[in-house]
Amino acid sequence: MTNPPSLFDPLRLGPIEAAGRVFKTATAETRASVDGFVSDELVEWYGLLARGGTPLVITGNFYVSPQGKSTYRMCGVDSDEKIPGLRRLAEISDRFGTKLIAQLNHCGRQVIVGHSGVDDPVSASAQRDPVMGAKPRPLRLDELPGVVDSFAAAALRCREAGFDGVQIHAAHGYLLNQFLTPHTNRRRDAYGGSFENRLRLVREIVRETRRRVGADFALLLKMNGDDRLPLRRGLQIDENLAIAKALVGEGIDAVEVSVGHYESGFPMTAGRFDDFYRQLVVHGAGQYMDAVRRFSMTRFHGALDALSRRLWPPREGFNLEYAARFKHELSVPVIVVGGFHTRAAMEGALSGAGADAISCGRAFIADPFLVEHLRTGEAGPVCDYCNLCLARAGTGPVDCWNPVARAEKQKLLAAKELE
Ligand SMILES: Cc1cc2nc3c(=O)[nH]c(=O)nc-3n(C[C@H](O)[C@H](O)[C@H](O)COP(=O)(O)O)c2cc1C
Ligand code: SF4
Repeated sequence: MTNPPSLFDPLRLGPIEAAGRVFKTATAETRASVDGFVSDELVEWYGLLARGGTPLVITGNFYVSPQGKSTYRMCGVDSDEKIPGLRRLAEISDRFGTKLIAQLNHCGRQVIVGHSGVDDPVSASAQRDPVMGAKPRPLRLDELPGVVDSFAAAALRCREAGFDGVQIHAAHGYLLNQFLTPHTNRRRDAYGGSFENRLRLVREIVRETRRRVGADFALLLKMNGDDRLPLRRGLQIDENLAIAKALVGEGIDAVEVSVGHYESGFPMTAGRFDDFYRQLVVHGAGQYMDAVRRFSMTRFHGALDALSRRLWPPREGFNLEYAARFKHELSVPVIVVGGFHTRAAMEGALSGAGADAISCGRAFIADPFLVEHLRTGEAGPVCDYCNLCLARAGTGPVDCWNPVARAEKQKLLAAKELE
């Protein structure tokens, strides 16, 4: 019998090799300039992750076109002028041997109209997003080639900037997920209805992106294991597996498995929700929501925190059951995201054949040197899944706002400064 892989064994993802199996997943940084250019603040964050020995880093979601921008100070890959800034991220990662993957996204209907600069949100159909409140207009057939082109052109820019690959974001209820899911895709043309029709846009994007970037650039995919849309026509594991298989056939090198749309609530960021809704209204995107949403969160924040904690409690490996199915059926590596921070849970996922690699979001926000600490056994700041980083996502630079973990992180960064 062969030994299960260790966290520090290399892993091949198509044309690239990561020097370990604990990756940083995409977490929106809100650290670009207001017009979407790479800033010093963004380079500093990626520099820390690379210095910490992270073998592979997936950026926060980058918009492929101005229409797909979901938040303030989001980074864009929508024009060639952005390439010199993007090159700075690739250079700082490469200096420490970190593979850098850009997550490419179009938010579709999941946007607060006006806040990010998007006034005309689009989707597969006109289904309103009940969380952000946006009522999108369906994309016209003659607009879809432009969407395909925006992803493929963005990937090519990343390649030119020196990135090692891109990740197509088809999870979490953003535009590509909106086309895949029957609840959000009510079209009656060639892009809606049957399995093949709902898949068509994403298939065209993956095919065209692979054609333009060539074989020696990694193409990753983030997908849901389950849409978690009970009583609505959401996707479940079997159909998601069929989608993943079809896209691997178009040239995807690895699949990261997550869960949920915005409309599902917070299964994708299961946690403790300590003072979450109040902080969302005071410091986060809640400030820009309509009066009814602001009033509800201000008035009922305690009850909403308690309900969320009950519905989506923190747990290491909360997407593992889906990832294990993907791993069993796909011919490419599977990355599992969701609640991981301890070595024991990560090793359990690898040895139990649940996944080929682990990705973490919040654990890296608390401790950018997580991989170094896993390797040496030294204690670092520990994420307690309060979700206060999420409460402020999209309004200020991504950071840990938990008083205990934040103090630990500041101590760590001060010590690293002296090294
Ligand atoms: C502050 C914050 C920002 C996030 N931004 C993104 C993003 O840009 N793209 C994405 O696919 N997921 C995003 N997520 C979700 C994470 O990638 C991940 O799926 C989720 O946090 C679960 O992993 P974790 O338990 O290791 O944090 C974000 C999560 C947080 C907390
Ligand atoms: S604020 Fe800090 S401790 Fe809380 S979930 Fe985010 S990273 Fe973890």
